[in-house]
Amino acid sequence: MCGIVACQTRPPALDFLIPALRRVEYRGYDSVGVAVRTTGGNVVRLRSVGRLDSLQSSVDGYVGATLDGVGIGHTRWATHGVVSEENSHPHTDCLGDVHVVHNGIIENAEDLRADLSLRGHAFATEVDSETVAHLVEEALADGAGLPEAVEKASARLVGSWALAVIRRGEDAVVVTANRSPLVVATGGEGAYAASDLTALAGWTTHAQVVADGDVVVLEDDRLSWRRADGSSTAPALLSTSLAAVDVELGAASDFMGKEISEQSAAVEGIVNRLADGICDGRLWHQLGLPPLSRVRFVACGTSLNGAAVLNQLLAAHGIAGSLSPASESEGAVLESGTLLVALSQSGETADVLRALEVSSDDRVVLALTNVGSSTLGRTADASVELGVGPEIGVAATKTFTAQVVAGAAVMISGLVYARRISPVTAGHLTDRLRALPQLLAEADELARNHVADVVASATDASGFLFVGRGTAVPYASEGALKLKEITYRWAECQPAGELKHGPIALIDRGTPVVVIDDGHPKLAANISEMRARHAHVITIGGPESSMPYRLGSPDGAPWGPLASVVVLQHLARELAVALGRDVDKPRNLAKSVTVE
Ligand code: F6R
Repeated sequence: MCGIVACQTRPPALDFLIPALRRVEYRGYDSVGVAVRTTGGNVVRLRSVGRLDSLQSSVDGYVGATLDGVGIGHTRWATHGVVSEENSHPHTDCLGDVHVVHNGIIENAEDLRADLSLRGHAFATEVDSETVAHLVEEALADGAGLPEAVEKASARLVGSWALAVIRRGEDAVVVTANRSPLVVATGGEGAYAASDLTALAGWTTHAQVVADGDVVVLEDDRLSWRRADGSSTAPALLSTSLAAVDVELGAASDFMGKEISEQSAAVEGIVNRLADGICDGRLWHQLGLPPLSRVRFVACGTSLNGAAVLNQLLAAHGIAGSLSPASESEGAVLESGTLLVALSQSGETADVLRALEVSSDDRVVLALTNVGSSTLGRTADASVELGVGPEIGVAATKTFTAQVVAGAAVMISGLVYARRISPVTAGHLTDRLRALPQLLAEADELARNHVADVVASATDASGFLFVGRGTAVPYASEGALKLKEITYRWAECQPAGELKHGPIALIDRGTPVVVIDDGHPKLAANISEMRARHAHVITIGGPESSMPYRLGSPDGAPWGPLASVVVLQHLARELAVALGRDVDKPRNLAKSVTVE
């Protein structure tokens, strides 16, 4: 889940590495470092604990030999070893000749370390990645060139890796990958590699995915491929329409706020794109999927909440679905004919990818992802790309609503295709989908105007409960997740009816309980129970809404009160801002979770 970048360019490498690192910083931000070649062929390493801004100071203060266009960079989400400058990438070999950045986990690092130590290698860090530098060193000592050395070193590794390697005195940057995302590209000024396409926005219009086992050499503005299958044929080009402006903040104060407010337009784009194929089942048919009968959802975190919404939608139409966190899928039994539906905004979540590795002769995977070129997008049997633009804030917002809406469109189309609902019913549901952009925009405006008052009433609370009933429960769960991840306050989601079975003991005088009130007839009694225990009830929707806001009735859309999530996102963000948190880069987290 770290971010790696690399380049071999005619202008100074730092011109690319620093802005590119900023773009992949969402992948981890414990520490950051670069290694850049000097014009004399040496390599200078600059590293720093904390965010990119701290590295920038070292870069600004650098007074050594002139740096040229060959370099690698890394932003870390610590797995092995504490957060320290010593443990920051790039890592080097015994001689300080080889410099390596790594994303992933070397699972056999301890064995390799023991083995290499026996042969006299001295380790400077606790980090698994350092073993790679020493393995490359050994292969070079045996007479291999840098690409062969990287290939040989990789052959000794178990686990996942995207690697970029440079060596003192060499012009080339060598990259390779296994079960970890990596793209390469050439542009007007040289060749580039990065953990994802957003890092390359503005530098190139086309990129290529480094598949497992491929080794790519960036040299002389070119890419030379040594494919895992022994060929040197380059893979297909992906066009990247991202412009630099798409990944910049503009006038907004943070990406999360910007992305919350983009939801109405994002959903409008999805509905416009998909609506025509819903009522006649064409959308489903074009995905090449078998008739909808049994579904298993696979997802994590926010995407799991999105999956819960879709699971309820299908259940309401008699389709049996199952849902569990992807990280708990080990040993899951997949009944024949079950469609696996994987939701992942990044398409790179290791838990999701592993959960799909079930052995079944008729395994079919449908992916809902915001990154069509991701591992999930490329390897699924059918993929629906959300197309809502990059989401930079670590907390997922617009990709959640996009998953729900795109997923609902696809599932409704599947229900028509499987003759579970009529085209007329699908038409009514499609009309409701078309109404969503307006509802989301209204929720956004309302929350912007009113959520601060609600937050002021709960700033000092150490913990929150989020409750709802029926189709509101996944949204309550998402509200609790957003709140805990960016405010660092405890937040627990419960179906409102479950409170009396235990969690109600948590309620003290003034405990904030956020209720998603979509008018469920049994909710009023639950609210009374909480009030009787002096809870500070914050209702979203309903007759006593804490904001002038109504969510509609429970016999409403089968995807439940989607617009409530906009209010919940604002609630979490506003509280985080009030508490002085970094809403875009909450502590301990990273956006793309590529370790299990
Ligand atoms: C929460 C959040 C995470 C992700 C989870 C899965 O705001 O972003 O919970 O939803 O790590 O990530 P994806 O959707 O990329 O598979």
